[in-house]
Amino acid sequence: MRNSRELSVIVLAAGLGTRMKSSVSKVLHKLNRRYMIDYVLDTVQKLKPDNTVIVAGRHNIKELKEIFPTCTVALQSRPLGTAHAVISGVKKIGNFQGDILVLNGDTPLVTPDTIRAFITRHRRAGNHLSIISFIAQNPTGYGRIIRDKRNRPLLIREERNATDAERAIREVNSGVYLFSKETVSLLKRIKKNPLKGEYYLTDILEIANKSGYRCGVYPIGQEEEFLGINTKDELLQAQRRLRLRVVRYWLDRDVSFIDEERVYISPDAVIGAGTTLYPDVVIEGNSRIGENCVIYPNVRITDSQIGDSVLIKDSTVVESSVIGSDVVVGPFARIRPGTEIKKSARIGNFVEIKASVIGEGTKAQHLSYIGDAEVGENVNVGAGTITCNYDGERKHKTIIDKEVFIGSDSQLIAPVRVGRGAYIGAGSTITDDVPAYSLALSRVRQRNIKGWVKRRKKKKKRC
Ligand code: UD1
Ligand code: CA
Repeated sequence: MRNSRELSVIVLAAGLGTRMKSSVSKVLHKLNRRYMIDYVLDTVQKLKPDNTVIVAGRHNIKELKEIFPTCTVALQSRPLGTAHAVISGVKKIGNFQGDILVLNGDTPLVTPDTIRAFITRHRRAGNHLSIISFIAQNPTGYGRIIRDKRNRPLLIREERNATDAERAIREVNSGVYLFSKETVSLLKRIKKNPLKGEYYLTDILEIANKSGYRCGVYPIGQEEEFLGINTKDELLQAQRRLRLRVVRYWLDRDVSFIDEERVYISPDAVIGAGTTLYPDVVIEGNSRIGENCVIYPNVRITDSQIGDSVLIKDSTVVESSVIGSDVVVGPFARIRPGTEIKKSARIGNFVEIKASVIGEGTKAQHLSYIGDAEVGENVNVGAGTITCNYDGERKHKTIIDKEVFIGSDSQLIAPVRVGRGAYIGAGSTITDDVPAYSLALSRVRQRNIKGWVKRRKKKKKRC
């Protein structure tokens, strides 16, 4: 959102998070491998604010500064409550125009669309203070919105101060606020809450109302967005919802799931239309999966590019690699970083490939190790073929030109080159280059000793 009014944002992250029962700062717990507060900052960034300040405590300021080096971080010297935290943030912003948006750092599911709608509502109404509320299925733990008979919001009652009747109210405070300059200056009028010894930001509604400022409390957005994380249980709930959000996004783009609850897709990944993901598929990092692929169970793909119509069979791992279209990989294959598998290749069970190029149409179907190799097109790599790339000190390259046939159980001792169209007899140990279109054999000729077994048995009886 960009219009003439300035927007500053304060993200509260200084609380001790004692309910998490963890030595890790609450906002630095991870959800789907990303910091909790990172989700909030991501949403904030999409609003393109003029200033953004994270309010940190003594316990987490160093870490927050390290993790978000480009952000402005204010110190709340002691955890004296959310109002005190906002005042610490406002000091850091200094002289500001327009509005201040305040968000809790422990509410990672809030979306930019909801905040935009909220800002519009606040500005249209000409409010001095606005708050997002939501109707909670279970309001436990949230501040209740107390309205008068004409439905005007009067004040927020924190759970520990609420009467039984107030606790029954399901409209609650989301922790998302917009302040004008006038209501910001009222923050210092908030008094310490006697029950907990903290300055509650929520008291601002009553104070602003009593001072005659225009206040609005709006149920905008979905309940899910305002799930505040105070406990490990809530962390798991939020993590699950974030995962499902990504799944729903791809479902709308024609990706199919056999069990939508049992996949993990990184928010940075891209999946093509017509692709199907089986249960327990994990797609991490910046992976890109093409169209019409099928990814079978227990596959992990990390930071890799997969072409169209690729079949990845069960229990396969692909890391930092590129796989071309129409390739079949697995089951039980391991594609290690720096590998490129070109179009229509076949990589079968118990095949490990590291930092190698596998040419178009090449097949390595069973029990092989291919490392630091360049394999041309239409090569047949027999079962049990090993590139011996390591001499104990250094790694060496194996080059296999196109149309080579490597018989089963062969070892290629690198550095070595097998020329175009050459054949390697099964069970060979190749130490020297093989010229194009030659047959290389390096195994001991077979000797059959007739009647040997029977003679041995007779000998044993005599003894
Ligand atoms: C707060 C609200 C509650 C609302 C709920 C929404 C208050 C008093 N209550 O309760 O009405 O329904 O959020 O999720 O505000 N923090 C600081 N400094 C402090 C204390 C907290 O920066 O001294 C930060 C925390 O790191 C956290 C946020 O403020 O990110 C909210 O604090 P938390 O203790 O989680 O408040 P709730 O009890 O959830
Ligand atoms: Ca909270």
